[in-house]
Amino acid sequence: MGTHLSRTIAEGRAFTQLVGGRAVDSLSGERIDVLSPSDGKVFASIPASGAADVDLAVRAARRAFDDGPWARMPAVERGRLLTKLGQLVEKNGTELAALESRDTGKPVRQGRADVNATTRYYEFYGGAADKIHGDTIPFLDGYTALTLREPHGVVVGIIPWNYPLQILARVAGAALAMGNTLVVKPAEDASLTTIRIAELALEAGFPEGVFNVVTGYGRDAGAALSGHPLVDYVTFTGSPATGAAIQKAAAENNRGVTLELGGKSPQIVFADADIDAAVPVLVNAIIQNGGQTCSAGSRVLIERAVYDEVAEALAERFSALVAGPHDADLDLGSLINPRQRQKVTGMVSDAERAGCEILARGSIHADAPESGFYYAPALIAAKDTKLAIAQEEVFGPVLTLLAFDDEADAIGIANGTEYGLVAGIWTRDGARQHRVAKRVRAGQVFVNGYGAGGGIELPFGGFKRSGHGREKGFEALYDMSATKTVVFNHG
Ligand code: NAI
Ligand code: MG
Repeated sequence: MGTHLSRTIAEGRAFTQLVGGRAVDSLSGERIDVLSPSDGKVFASIPASGAADVDLAVRAARRAFDDGPWARMPAVERGRLLTKLGQLVEKNGTELAALESRDTGKPVRQGRADVNATTRYYEFYGGAADKIHGDTIPFLDGYTALTLREPHGVVVGIIPWNYPLQILARVAGAALAMGNTLVVKPAEDASLTTIRIAELALEAGFPEGVFNVVTGYGRDAGAALSGHPLVDYVTFTGSPATGAAIQKAAAENNRGVTLELGGKSPQIVFADADIDAAVPVLVNAIIQNGGQTCSAGSRVLIERAVYDEVAEALAERFSALVAGPHDADLDLGSLINPRQRQKVTGMVSDAERAGCEILARGSIHADAPESGFYYAPALIAAKDTKLAIAQEEVFGPVLTLLAFDDEADAIGIANGTEYGLVAGIWTRDGARQHRVAKRVRAGQVFVNGYGAGGGIELPFGGFKRSGHGREKGFEALYDMSATKTVVFNHG
């Protein structure tokens, strides 16, 4: 990976959005500066779209769904286009990884991992497109009843800034495999790879209007999209507050939504666990992407008998962690923007004021520009399970430790937040593995491992405030389609 490329990619480019197969600016001509969190400097710009731009994009997607060749295209052909898109992502992987890491501040290595997962998403859904089908149902004498799986129509994807390539791919892969058309709004902080993917989709041969991108602020373009009456279904990944706003907007039109709203995912370490195996995984589960991961393992629950041993091993690793520019490819990069750094700083200060001890701190590399949005990783012993640091999503490189007495106590603490996205269980006791996996409220449970964001084949989504609906794997194909029942009376 050329350091030069990841530092200079897209320099000075005025990006356009893609509507109806054409590269267009916003109607107002207004633009948003694109900056790299690694140095806080502006290097490109994107259109700042509003309701009128959104309306054009939704109408383009509507026409493509109602009248275009897409509606009559056999599933196998849709699948081939997705597979082709996956190949183009792979072919342009170096450029996409450099673009993603410059735009988000993540290490280039993470950008490359995101590209690989993105390729896999398009391959997986390309292969799946013609392998999902309905049922025939035993019904009354003289009748044949069957089900067809039909696309919703125009699907909206509102994408966050933490994993733009991957989250777009899980939405677009499943939505397009089922024959929907798409309007995507990436986050104002990280829109560039979404624009590039839409360009590659055109190159792959998707008909015009099938894959549209509008860029702009959430309160303008995002709000207009989620409440547009010609939209059939909305998917969103991001904060619970914005998720609620989007659900309300979609409810005005009585449309369905899939919401993935983050978590406070526990990793439970029992005294009989293989601690040497667990420790590096526990660290990676929070440090990956600087902790800006919906499925980050942000709480470690430790059985009292091994609390000191685990805490010390974690502290040793935390002290060695170094944050720095994306192209330096250190343990972690910068946070996405000053607001996010302020949020993380504030939550950690509040925890300290409430009497929590900082057990270890990583560092920021001496060469990291002062103007970047870096935060030195922190390992915190929580004094109380009720504190914000033990309850709320920090979305930064901050790991909270909590002690527990026994299995029931561990499950109580694990389930004692408003979230329920992912959980990790570390124990050698097979019966306990099954018991705890069943009782913990989380959409994904890992036993003796942890896969923050990994596994494109694995259904993923939340309970409680973590949201509803399922993405990834075959499950997503059901969320991205509706059942039509057809009954024949043949006497
Ligand atoms: P956000 O949820 O407001 O933004 C995510 C996306 O929603 C962006 O594309 C944004 O433009 C759009 N959006 C914002 N307001 C909208 C509205 N009213 N209607 C439609 N779309 C709208 O998240 P934000 O403010 O960037 O980050 C705040 C916190 O949210 C973070 O600290 C983190 O805790 C959480 N978050 C969680 C993510 C996850 O993967 N679950 C991803 C990003 C943020
Ligand atoms: Mg950026």
